[in-house]
Amino acid sequence: MSKLTAPRGTFDILPEQASMRAEVERTARELLEAAGYGRIETPTFEATELFARGVGEATDIVQKEMYSFDDGGGRSLTLRPEGTAPVCRAYVEHGMHKLPQPVRLYYLSSFFRAERPQAGRYRQFWQLGIEALGSVDPAVDAETIALLATILARLGVSDVRLRLSSLGSPDTRAAYREDLGAYLRAHVDALAPAVRERIELNPLRAFDSDDPGTREVMAGAPRLLDRLDADDAAHFAAVRELLDRAGVAHEIDATLVRGLDYYTRTLFEFTSDALGAQSGVAGGGRYDGLIEQLGGPPTPGIGWAAGIERILMASAERPAAPPALDLYVAFEHARADAFATLTDARAAGLAAQMELAGRSLKGQLKQAERLGARFVAVVEGESVRLRDLRAGTEETMPRAALVDRLVAA
Ligand code: HAM
Repeated sequence: MSKLTAPRGTFDILPEQASMRAEVERTARELLEAAGYGRIETPTFEATELFARGVGEATDIVQKEMYSFDDGGGRSLTLRPEGTAPVCRAYVEHGMHKLPQPVRLYYLSSFFRAERPQAGRYRQFWQLGIEALGSVDPAVDAETIALLATILARLGVSDVRLRLSSLGSPDTRAAYREDLGAYLRAHVDALAPAVRERIELNPLRAFDSDDPGTREVMAGAPRLLDRLDADDAAHFAAVRELLDRAGVAHEIDATLVRGLDYYTRTLFEFTSDALGAQSGVAGGGRYDGLIEQLGGPPTPGIGWAAGIERILMASAERPAAPPALDLYVAFEHARADAFATLTDARAAGLAAQMELAGRSLKGQLKQAERLGARFVAVVEGESVRLRDLRAGTEETMPRAALVDRLVAA
């Protein structure tokens, strides 16, 4: 039989990594809940149609990266490749438009994309994300971006750059796509074949190409940012001004493209130069048409998602502190008494462990030291020898008095 391993592009989170992730989660939760965000978790799978309609038929995600399956009753389900469409679906389903707006939600969940695995790119990965629904105020755009900058800084993500752009409204974008398509057709011979094939489907993706010929053509291409209508341009200017006033450094990048179709107006991405090819740490933007497109009332929204694996890769190693251990319960013969002591100690809220591997008394004392225990109790029937490993002292006491003595320590 061949060796069983985790599927390609997936990974196990072992205890040491789990504690680093818990640290990321704690920091994010503190900052987001203090800013009025409440946690939401949606199902791991959804109707395939949600992503086809929400993320967009022409995107790489929908075209080739979804894990879709038949639920056995002829209905197609898909492991969620992203969190925005599901959160918008939940907003509509639970009538959240009746709540005071904006409704501010965050999630920390795993997502699934059948991408070619490489460093920083997985088939199951984790995202911290937020969505603020129900307000067009540019201050919401600036707030979400500033929160992300604060979280990344607090987590020690190094060499971070924020790129910012605006896609305007769908009408402006549609007219621009026509012009860009015409420009690309006029330069078709210089374009990479993959770009050529996508001129009709998604001409904006040409800005994403690494191909030198394509890049040269794109340097002279018309820019959407130069064509925003007055309202969209004013919205973008307001977002920039708020970010400037709050000291959130950013660069304008008119060529910024993201792989999801729902964006309107503000668009942004945080990259870290500490990462290799997959330098995107977090990305997001406004999606003022998405909820309506999913069958809900017209409702604006904005949000972002940050990749947990990329945050950890781009942040300085944080050695996870081993959890504190108050008490190690040792014994030679009085196993049941030791077990009762362990249970009492835990019930009193102490961090306690006991010998479970048949070590000699000497071996048990060594193990207690290895675990960094503060006290060792050697249980001998109804009496206990209590060693304070920090002070190097020892006292004998009735077993019944032990837990009170430790709780008071
Ligand atoms: P996204 O840019 O597709 O946006 O993903 C956001 C982040 O998730 C990326 O910047 C990256 O850190 C991480 N990520 C994406 N794919 C992978 C992968 N295969 N392996 C590891 N990490 C990955 C979204 O998903 C949008 N829903 C963000 C959003 C929220 N926009 C508005 N609201």
